[in-house]
Amino acid sequence: AATADFVVIANRLPVDRVVQPDGSTTWRTSPGGLVTALEPVMRRNGGAWIGWHGAPDEKLRTFEHDGITLVPVHLTGQEYEEYYEGFSNATLWPLYHDVVAPPEFHREWWESYVEVNRRFAKKAARIARRNAVVWVQDYQLQLVPQMLRELRPDLRIGFFLHIPFPPNELFQQLPWRRSILEGLLGADLVGFQLPGAAQNFVRLVRQRVGHKTHRDTVYLEDGRTVTARAYPISIDAAGFEEMARRPEVVARAAEIRESLGNPRCVLLGIDRLDYTKGLRQRLRAFGELVTEGAVDVDDAVFVQVATPSRERVEQYRLLRDDIDRLVGRINGDVGRIGAQPITYLHASYPREEMAALYRAADVMVVTPLRDGMNLVAKEYVACRYDDDGALVLSEFAGAAAELRQAYRVNPYDINGLKEALLEAIRAPEKERTRRMKAMRKQVVENDIELWATRFLDDLRTVRHTHDKTP
Ligand code: G6P
Repeated sequence: AATADFVVIANRLPVDRVVQPDGSTTWRTSPGGLVTALEPVMRRNGGAWIGWHGAPDEKLRTFEHDGITLVPVHLTGQEYEEYYEGFSNATLWPLYHDVVAPPEFHREWWESYVEVNRRFAKKAARIARRNAVVWVQDYQLQLVPQMLRELRPDLRIGFFLHIPFPPNELFQQLPWRRSILEGLLGADLVGFQLPGAAQNFVRLVRQRVGHKTHRDTVYLEDGRTVTARAYPISIDAAGFEEMARRPEVVARAAEIRESLGNPRCVLLGIDRLDYTKGLRQRLRAFGELVTEGAVDVDDAVFVQVATPSRERVEQYRLLRDDIDRLVGRINGDVGRIGAQPITYLHASYPREEMAALYRAADVMVVTPLRDGMNLVAKEYVACRYDDDGALVLSEFAGAAAELRQAYRVNPYDINGLKEALLEAIRAPEKERTRRMKAMRKQVVENDIELWATRFLDDLRTVRHTHDKTP
């Protein structure tokens, strides 16, 4: 039944399943920033969130959780392989991230992508009240705006792409490029992380689909307009700071340093285990610094947390093997009993543990080869209420546009990366404080709530029709 005035559609529901000792299951809100930002809006508007619940081949009914209606979309095992692992994560993901791994193009994967996108659109069409606002998230669902508009022209539809939008030369490779552009054009407002991506989209629509455009607006034949703008996403900055200040988190941070042997400098990386994150380059650079003796093993240690992700996709398996080998090689070459240069953790941790790690780290190392935004960089900054700590940040992360006082690196340049690491390790306190203060101001003033408000305010105002006759 149509019950919602505000609907979010994302590949995943914002909850994790918790299995109780007695075998029954409950749900826990997953720690993403998006749900934190949207929860209040959803409670006010009788909101619904449509998404996949994370288990292939399982059908679940709509249920209420923390005042939000959750609408599970089911995926068959085959759709999980073709729509999720295949088209979303072995075609679009590498293509949109500068082809840092080769994208695979398979027609069956595309068919499955179309089919699953239609399922999401149909659910939304059924649940949205008249004139409701619907917000579609990310690359897994780029066809939903158009499909939904055909079913429900009364809706106000927004779309936000969390990952980069590729340059024309790369987007052109996609055999279904036109369908993707038309899919997105079903929205009234299409949001990107960076202004360049929005401009690129408008240009592609003009050149490939032949629509008239002016600045950030596309004029469609039927008189509708589509606006494309940048909305750099952020985090719940106050929430992170509050967590980092908790006595048990502060104590845990001290304990972590203690367990590492109280080195002078702790370097930290936290990433999904993904080939876009520049893990190989980062470890190689640090490995050379310790091998050459520029950094002493008793003096500086590197903690790398790599969260398991998309583990059955080939490029992710290859990466895992590579990182295992690289870490083993470096630790074997330069480690001593009781002194390992790299502590490598292939696991995911609760947010409190992340906050403790951020608090414990003198140098945060974020070196993606390409990244839509990178929220880890912002989380680190939010946790440093002491105005200390240095951030080494790739210029190919969206966050580099805002965190201008980071030590910027081109992760492909291993020598440059080594220099930046050394500079950050050796930075005097005054310099660290100056940089961190400026970055904190930026993150605190531009949190996820402001991001959501900006997008939703624009979505309520951008739609207009233009005169079809020339
Ligand atoms: C990126 C994407 C998200 C995705 C997340 C985790 O941040 O932009 O859409 O949910 O990675 O990946 P997963 O495949 O586990 O959902």
